[in-house]
Amino acid sequence: MWSENLAYALSQVMHNFGAAAVLGGAVFILWPAFRLEYSRRFAWLILIAWGTQIASGGLFGAISLYYYGETPDLSAVALTALVVKVLAATVGFLLSAFYLIRGQEWGRASVKHTFQILAALGVAALTAAAFLRWFS
Ligand code: HEM
Repeated sequence: MWSENLAYALSQVMHNFGAAAVLGGAVFILWPAFRLEYSRRFAWLILIAWGTQIASGGLFGAISLYYYGETPDLSAVALTALVVKVLAATVGFLLSAFYLIRGQEWGRASVKHTFQILAALGVAALTAAAFLRWFS
């Protein structure tokens, strides 16, 4: 029980800091004024943060499988919320990677738009997290 709680708690630490960096990183670039000069450094942070969410989200499932031999039974609302999170994390990871690979040729408006999309994906994932938590 102790080891199970510790495993969940450590995964949750990763997951919470990843969530903070996903949204906080995108908001920092956009607000109070768009800061193009930091955009690549922050795109790296956001890429790693989305990757952290995918890895720690997967760890939650792996821990359940290890201790119970199955993943939790989710309600329709919770399952929808989980799908939203997985989609947001996948698109967020791919978009930040795409920006890092190709974005050097993009104009200021396109880069700003990219970070707006990344911020919106963060908002969607964090909103879905609340529904996953309370409709499980
Ligand atoms: C592959 C993607 C993801 C998976 C598989 C996943 C899975 C999970 C799971 C299983 C939980 C525990 C739910 C519970 O306590 O009942 C959780 C909690 C949480 N997730 Fe995710 N997640 C993913 C992505 C994200 C993303 C992208 C964010 C935010 C940017 C996020 C934010 C949170 C937060 C804040 C919690 C804590 C909710 C609470 O206890 O109130 N997750 N996630």
